[in-house]
Amino acid sequence: MAKLSVNVDHVATIRQARRALEPDPVTAALKAELAGADGITVHLREDRRHIHDRDVFILRKTVKTVLNLEMAATQEMLSVALEVKPDMVTIVPEKRQELTTEGGLDVRKDVDALKKYVGFLREAGINVNLFIDPMPESVKYSHRIGASGVEVHTGRFAEARTLQAKESELKRIYDSVMLTKKLGLRAHAGHGLDYVNIKDVARIKEIDEFAIGFAVIARSVYVGIDDAVKEMLGLIRRA
Ligand code: PXP
Repeated sequence: MAKLSVNVDHVATIRQARRALEPDPVTAALKAELAGADGITVHLREDRRHIHDRDVFILRKTVKTVLNLEMAATQEMLSVALEVKPDMVTIVPEKRQELTTEGGLDVRKDVDALKKYVGFLREAGINVNLFIDPMPESVKYSHRIGASGVEVHTGRFAEARTLQAKESELKRIYDSVMLTKKLGLRAHAGHGLDYVNIKDVARIKEIDEFAIGFAVIARSVYVGIDDAVKEMLGLIRRA
């Protein structure tokens, strides 16, 4: 059964709208866990536009499931990760101008540097996923780099508007997940997944975990985080 890691970044986005103390992503994470989430994800960006260092440090002390820290492969973030020691790090590409992470990592570039970077984290006992586009080559590079898993980028599938495009993107995700499992890595998936499109992706039973943020936090505005998480868990389990 695939797990669900709830990304609480957008609770912090609302907090940031007024530079206030609330809503607090730490409280949201606690509520998501109480509703059954299997893990909590936060992305600490270089510009600290939503999640702040304080959130990550408190979450380390309060998250009882699995804390996944999304971050760019920079020296600054390496220091944060080695101090916080999350259960898992997901390395993502990061651009200041983007609204959200736009694409997967170019894992072919700087293989040696990434290998070293991933090595530092794994030596500290942290599992490391690389966020990649659904391409077999990227899965093979992730294996070579020494990652413990990959997170397959589902954004293009989520944005596909025709049935044909959706099917073709879903096939790319399926093939990447199958290769990931064959190489003995953990297969995660995420980005742009919502209460409608999750049904198709969750049929790929080899996926170990989904990382879902925006849709769950947006739904929480109407029904509360408890129901929003439970509904998403139900869709994943019934797929
Ligand atoms: N996975 C990664 C690597 C991401 O960067 C994000 C967005 O922060 C997500 C998953 C969650 O995407 P969404 O908010 O669209 O569910």
